[in-house]
Amino acid sequence: MRNPILVTGATGKTGAEVVLDLLEQRLPVRALVHREDERSTRLAALGAEIATGDLLDIDAVGDALADVRRAYFVYPIRPGLIEATTIFAQAGDETGLDVVVNMSQISARRTAHSDAARQHWLAERVFDWSPVGAVHLRPTFFAEWLPTNWQYADGAGLLRLPFGDGRHAPIAATDQARLIAAILANPTGHVGQTYKLHGPVEMDHHEIAAAMSETLGLPVRYDPVDTDTYAEILRAQGRPEHLIQHLSAVALDYRDGVFEGTDDTIERITGKPPQTVEQYVTANRDLFPT
Ligand SMILES: NC(=O)c1ccc[n+]([C@@H]2O[C@H](COP(=O)([O-])OP(=O)(O)OC[C@H]3O[C@@H](n4cnc5c(N)ncnc54)[C@H](OP(=O)(O)O)[C@@H]3O)[C@@H](O)[C@H]2O)c1
Repeated sequence: MRNPILVTGATGKTGAEVVLDLLEQRLPVRALVHREDERSTRLAALGAEIATGDLLDIDAVGDALADVRRAYFVYPIRPGLIEATTIFAQAGDETGLDVVVNMSQISARRTAHSDAARQHWLAERVFDWSPVGAVHLRPTFFAEWLPTNWQYADGAGLLRLPFGDGRHAPIAATDQARLIAAILANPTGHVGQTYKLHGPVEMDHHEIAAAMSETLGLPVRYDPVDTDTYAEILRAQGRPEHLIQHLSAVALDYRDGVFEGTDDTIERITGKPPQTVEQYVTANRDLFPT
């Protein structure tokens, strides 16, 4: 295939790994980055063509999509998802995009209390109405939430989260990226599908803390907090209100089982199973400072 594959969010958690995976397959990649920095310089050094632009700018998106037939679309938990999706679908229709792999999330549904989750559901519908063939991904919480929420004091790790005794199987960005790259390399049979994505082992956060403790060789404790306390923790970290509203709402979904489950999609399509929590923590030891 000579047309470049467009990867949006190319300096983010999933996008950067998708770029690396496609380059390893010797496929031509155009990486759409929000701004040029050391992350985009690294992608360029590895062989990606860099396009710089905002997903809310239809001209920039149209330029990035020139000659592109397949793309990965990802937009962060920030206001603007539906506008960015509509722009991408419209520009893709104008430029001849055939297939988009669309990052959504497991809690996406019409009745979601999270604004971002409801917007993800609407964004899926926008791609479904458009002539561009879409594959929707609905992952559970990423394994990357573990280092994001990592605290360490007095020789012990601590996870303070509002998840009660709810359960999920954390899924690493690198494993999702392998699936995304496989679909982009060969979309046959995937257009029209919605894949829920989970890691291999479903756990509650006491079990996750125990697995981290075993792997890191130090005590790790899960401290369940209520959603108001968690919102205050996030505010103290300077997190935006859109994200705080989302995480507060999906914490209740999480307790109600919306994030549960396991599946074989990544192993079936890529031939390699996704990482366990223990494997993720081992591979990313430096993300858990002590
Ligand atoms: N984290 C989870 O547990 C989880 C679970 C399920 C689903 N998801 C979904 O995953 C998605 C996030 O994926 P991710 O973690 O791979 O992303 P990410 O790490 O948050 O990265 C987002 C990327 O998009 C870029 N970006 C931000 N705003 C942009 C804009 N206006 N125009 C162009 N580029 C822009 C960012 O660049 P800069 O950094 O330069 O701004 C960054 O490269 C969300 O849609 C979320 O709902 C996440």
